[in-house]
Amino acid sequence: MSNIIELRNIVKEYGSGDEKVRILKGISLDVAKGDFVAIVGPSGSGKSTLMNTIGLLDSPNEGTYTLDGVATEKLSDNQLAEVRNRKLGFIFQQFNLLPRLSALENVELPLVYAGLGKQERRERALAMLQSLGMEHRIHHKPNQLSGGQQQRVAIARALAVQPALLLADEPTGALDSRTGAEVMELMVRLNEQGNTVVLITHDNHIAANAKRVVSIRDGLIVDDRRNAALPEASGEAVTV
Ligand SMILES: Nc1ncnc2c1ncn2[C@@H]1O[C@H](COP(=O)(O)OP(=O)(O)OP(=O)(O)O)[C@@H](O)[C@H]1O
Ligand SMILES: [Mg+2]
Repeated sequence: MSNIIELRNIVKEYGSGDEKVRILKGISLDVAKGDFVAIVGPSGSGKSTLMNTIGLLDSPNEGTYTLDGVATEKLSDNQLAEVRNRKLGFIFQQFNLLPRLSALENVELPLVYAGLGKQERRERALAMLQSLGMEHRIHHKPNQLSGGQQQRVAIARALAVQPALLLADEPTGALDSRTGAEVMELMVRLNEQGNTVVLITHDNHIAANAKRVVSIRDGLIVDDRRNAALPEASGEAVTV
């Protein structure tokens, strides 16, 4: 299987001069297409910093990053934005939906940037919302939706561009345990349907849903293991 992510010796520092702090201290990581990887670690260990690197939201100070065959360190900011829009789908703890737009319009938005025509955007967005059980809420604004429903809209938005990689940073962090478990079941299903997923969490129970768990501490990978065979569709691994 080919790799969607190839990180080599990634170093990320914040600040300058005496104030300089090294957050990522040399991270090398390959992720195969079709895999479901959880990145776990305590608060402040550098998980979101790593996610921002993988998501092309922030550039490392050192190291190389090849995403789906593209050597990203050679790209301009505009090219990075284009690769980001084309290849990546993001899911965040706080959903990050636009409050003035309906569920449908939120899902359509990345398709505007992707250059799809009006009709195609609407059809694709409707299909995505439908597949996530949200067809009865398409005209609701985010504040008229529950947290779990908002996250479903955010997931539909992330998937609408048919990304090569789905990146989720604490996607259940703002949800109650039952709704969080439902969202995790959804992530497992999306992976079974062929989506490559990288999930960031501080919660080992959440990580148990992934096929592979990479642990980071203090800016370094300290453990990397495959989960033993997951209970088949029993949802037993899903606790929040
Ligand atoms: N823009 C920034 N400027 C300076 N320091 C930063 C910046 N962003 C993050 N840091 C620092 O980098 C370290 C790692 O932060 P990061 O957000 O990656 O942690 P995390 O593992 O995601 O934690 P959490 O589980 O709390 O989300 C922290 O000590 C944080 O203070
Ligand atoms: Mg974080």
